[in-house]
Amino acid sequence: MTDKELFDIAKEAVALSRAPYSGFNVGAALLCKNGKVYKGANIENAAYSATVCAERTAVFRAVLDGETEFVSIAVAAKNQNGEYVSAPPCGTCRQVLSEFCKSDFKVIFGTDDNLNCITLNDILPYSFSLL
Ligand code: THU
Repeated sequence: MTDKELFDIAKEAVALSRAPYSGFNVGAALLCKNGKVYKGANIENAAYSATVCAERTAVFRAVLDGETEFVSIAVAAKNQNGEYVSAPPCGTCRQVLSEFCKSDFKVIFGTDDNLNCITLNDILPYSFSLL
């Protein structure tokens, strides 16, 4: 699967987002080593801190399905005006990804015109680990 193909699935996942408070809709597509793709989307809560990001919903769905080997994740986002904008994963999501993914895991984000692909190690160097 190409980066662009995974990003297109992340764009589809934007439609699953529930973001009545921020109006910022995020979709994620997580590619497993076995070829399966898990979609995620942000789910907001009236108690704002209870909100969960798109990346984490994708990871948690996959892990609950028994998947633990991942290749890459793509993230797509639409702002309040319905325009696609670049949305690199937040710090908490980077840490969650680091729990399950190797340092060469790829993170794909941006827009159709400007798609970025960077390793997890590059966006989260010196990640915390107990192992
Ligand atoms: N959000 C994500 O889904 N992923 C990120 O990595 C950063 C932010 C969501 C959370 C919230 O619903 C909205 O974007 C605005 O912060």
